[in-house]
Amino acid sequence: MARHLLTGSELTPPELEAMLDRALALKAAPLASRALAGRSVALIFERPSTRTRLSFEAGVAELGGHPLVLRAGELQLSRGESLRDTALVLSRHVAAIGLRTGPDAQLRELAEHATVPVLNMLTARHHPCQALADLLTLRETFGRLDGLKLAYVGDGNNVARSLVVLGTLAGMEVAVASPEGYALDDAPGATLVRDPAEAVTGAHAVYADVWVSMGDEETAQERRRALGPYRLDDALLDAAAPEAIALHCLPAHPGEEITAEVLYGPRQRIWDQAENRRHAQKALLELLVAET
Ligand code: CP
Ligand code: NVA
Repeated sequence: MARHLLTGSELTPPELEAMLDRALALKAAPLASRALAGRSVALIFERPSTRTRLSFEAGVAELGGHPLVLRAGELQLSRGESLRDTALVLSRHVAAIGLRTGPDAQLRELAEHATVPVLNMLTARHHPCQALADLLTLRETFGRLDGLKLAYVGDGNNVARSLVVLGTLAGMEVAVASPEGYALDDAPGATLVRDPAEAVTGAHAVYADVWVSMGDEETAQERRRALGPYRLDDALLDAAAPEAIALHCLPAHPGEEITAEVLYGPRQRIWDQAENRRHAQKALLELLVAET
């Protein structure tokens, strides 16, 4: 049975800790692993991507493998071939499959029929590879995760959900502040509040994501109205712990969900987060491919 990463909850706390240790080692020695030598990895993008595509493509190459980037419309999937048949054929050629798509059910269906690991490269409800890089960034900054508090401020979206799943798995306290109508619908172990100031009290990191995610464009106007008071600015960061850092998964909209002062300022670790995608995903690929 192949091991998949669809939400992050497939990992045990010791596995997560070991994976982040391994990611730090790979960051220090990026060419130290040949875990994918002679193998290929299919990376299917049904939605746009800058970071996920770059970090997976470069990461697979650094592991000695060959990344096959496939965009929407390039597979027979776009002409009605089933996910089941796509999974069966891809599994005969590649060591792992990454998928970025909308519906989580599509990812689950691909995973159900694939005999190689399937990785979630973003769905409407989850973005676990982002959260792995975020935990790596926190671990680098504070030297630990257990006992840290992370505050996410804004839309209760895929990134927020994955931070709750993986942050709580790592022993962190996760607080999410969202306006009415935009709160996470399921967040076991997390604290959900309305007031951003309440969420950031004592937080070691304050996290922002876009107000209009891919697929939410039709409701952009009402989202901007509702989420207006949830901007990550210096004043909100001042209300967190003195050593608090600002995080954002990117792409950012300076002046909207985050100010330019924070995005490019001294307290952010946002550009490290973007780099850490590659290191975290390499450790993840090593783990999943080794066990299959
Ligand atoms: N953070 C993230 O997943 O970025 P992309 O959409 O550019 O891949
Ligand atoms: N929540 C955003 C994350 C982008 C990386 C989206 O789904 O568009």
